[in-house]
Amino acid sequence: MTCKEFVVARKEEIKNLVLGMKKVPCIGIVQLNEDAASNAYVKGKLKDAAELGIKADLIKLPIETSEEELLKVIDNLNKDDIHDGFIVQMPLPKQINEETVKLAVDPKKDVDGFHPLSSLAPCTPKGIMTYLKHEKVELLGKNAVVIGRSNIVGKPMAKLLLKESCNVTVLHSKTSPEDMARYIENADIIVVAIGKAGFLDNRFKYKDSAVIVDVGISRDETGLHGDAIPGLPVKLQTPVPGGVGLLTRLALYENLLEIVSKK
Ligand code: GUN
Repeated sequence: MTCKEFVVARKEEIKNLVLGMKKVPCIGIVQLNEDAASNAYVKGKLKDAAELGIKADLIKLPIETSEEELLKVIDNLNKDDIHDGFIVQMPLPKQINEETVKLAVDPKKDVDGFHPLSSLAPCTPKGIMTYLKHEKVELLGKNAVVIGRSNIVGKPMAKLLLKESCNVTVLHSKTSPEDMARYIENADIIVVAIGKAGFLDNRFKYKDSAVIVDVGISRDETGLHGDAIPGLPVKLQTPVPGGVGLLTRLALYENLLEIVSKK
């Protein structure tokens, strides 16, 4: 099943779950930046919520908001009985420290799974694992290569793959081209998240049974591009657009429902 088909089917299930709930779940979305990417993400999240019958409350704050003022808003969201969970849309304007903000969100309401004490996984790795499991991709004892070591994708992705007993290798910008080629050639699962359009191309060899999950999104005048060129000679490759982005959006609401179910 493609990512798109999987997301459509799972959304139908979530919609029915929500219909059966006594209280309509409610998510808060705090937005300060209004750059094109943030607006697009927020618009997508609001659209998904509407489709799923979930209440979404967009809390827009001026871009000049101080860290102290934002922390007050977060404190109120932590304490209120209205929002089951909330997110603060990243990136934040430069007067605000993103790490301070991530730590200020109550782990019990942290739908993004960014807090170190959150029991939830960040949405991108979570969405990817849900899809890999749905596609019955064999994980136990398989060689998984994660390219990129960010806190919200690479590191938590490696942790989730390790939990499924993969042999996990994390590669990054300081990995030599020789090592990169060697690990890729032996990989059963490759998750690429380095933000370099077309980084995975035909200069590498792949196992024909390999699965490539493409987290990259780079935009240029010709459109959106993943970290892998389309059509690599492997068993399964997620497209960009229409791949991991959709899985990430779905995982946000999977996390919200997980919070609600623990109440
Ligand atoms: N900005 C880009 N992706 C995300 C995300 O998943 N969560 C938040 N809060 N901000 C983002």
